[in-house]
Amino acid sequence: MTTSRARSRYEDRLSEAARGMRFSAIRRMSALIERPGIISFAPGQPSPETFPVAAFQEIIAEVVARESAGAFQYILTRGLGSLIAAVQEYAAAKDMPTTAPEMLITEGSQQGLDLLSRVLLDPGDVVVVERPSYIGATSAFRASRARMVGVRLDDCGLDLDDLRRRHAECVGAGTTPKFLYVIPSFQNPSGISHDLDHRRGLLEAARDLDLLIVEDDPYGDLYFEAAPVATLRSMDGARVVYLSSFSKILAPGLRTAFLIGPEEILAKVEIAKQSANLCGSGLDQRVILACLKRGLIEAQKERIRPYYRAKRDTMLAALEAEMPDGVRWTRPAGGLFVWLTLPEGMDAEILLEAAVAEGVAYVAGGPFHVDGGGANTMRLTFAKEDAPTIAEGVRRLGRVVKRAVS
Ligand SMILES: Cc1ncc(COP(=O)(O)O)c(C=O)c1O
Repeated sequence: MTTSRARSRYEDRLSEAARGMRFSAIRRMSALIERPGIISFAPGQPSPETFPVAAFQEIIAEVVARESAGAFQYILTRGLGSLIAAVQEYAAAKDMPTTAPEMLITEGSQQGLDLLSRVLLDPGDVVVVERPSYIGATSAFRASRARMVGVRLDDCGLDLDDLRRRHAECVGAGTTPKFLYVIPSFQNPSGISHDLDHRRGLLEAARDLDLLIVEDDPYGDLYFEAAPVATLRSMDGARVVYLSSFSKILAPGLRTAFLIGPEEILAKVEIAKQSANLCGSGLDQRVILACLKRGLIEAQKERIRPYYRAKRDTMLAALEAEMPDGVRWTRPAGGLFVWLTLPEGMDAEILLEAAVAEGVAYVAGGPFHVDGGGANTMRLTFAKEDAPTIAEGVRRLGRVVKRAVS
């Protein structure tokens, strides 16, 4: 009684934007799925087995010995100058040459997405996103009270006719979309990558429609087959704001990512960042710098690709063996996720309870769709469990799905 009265009293004190904020569907689902003994295909996290802890220990000791108290001082809002220079080199090696004012270090790409929302979006603005898309991004856009329009994502990339159609509908209704948000390589949640033709077509459409692109690329280096095709930023530097992160390659606890974009936009992002957190962690950034200088990041990529490839192979083979007719799934060439589609009319959120009772968990796919579709989809990660556990988890999931289908 007291609690609900107190809650409603504070509700009145909240901003309109805060009143509209909701915990993400994944967080709501986690109450159900984070139980001991459950085989979990749910978390959107890299495996801690891949974190190079011994190297971190050595590097942190070295940084503290060398920098002493300086390692714990505030740093520039944009990031350590020496790290920016090193990341410029890192980006140039991927055909994305940049000047220093075109680069900014953030505490994770999630912060980059939030800052971009703040400097690019007004309430009521439209952002075009893939359908499905990454919930962290759509939540950030929603927090700026933007409206989202979803464009169909096919196996080889964005449906470009749908993009032009949806754009025309927005313009016809009097709102020109502010930007297009895409994750072209091994997308979270679907594992889908845009092939070269789709990337070219996307840039051509963006030029025709005068559309700014925000390219989110945390998984591009986690490829299992051929190296992924060029980034959109490397294909058209003027039209693309690019984000990438060290979270999936090294460890998300180091909270270090980078943003590349036009100087004018980044100058505003810097001001927004100043009021968000003054600056990132000087210690984390010095550790990332040392990792770059030692060649540890490239070595780490070589090490973790076969690790995740083996897990992906186990999951795909198990799905092949266990899933009944009418169930489809993606075969990602990299990243951490497989996207499974149940027959039309089934609901993965409802099925989750039966799956948890069987001892396996996933994330239902509906919330990744900004238009309310996708009820019959789910995201499965192969990152967390070891190979025998993945096989057992898919067997359990297969039993649940077979029962529901029949
Ligand atoms: C597509 C995508 N973008 C951004 C992020 C944020 O990553 P971080 O803030 O750790 O760099 C994630 C994390 O899962 C992601 O999947």
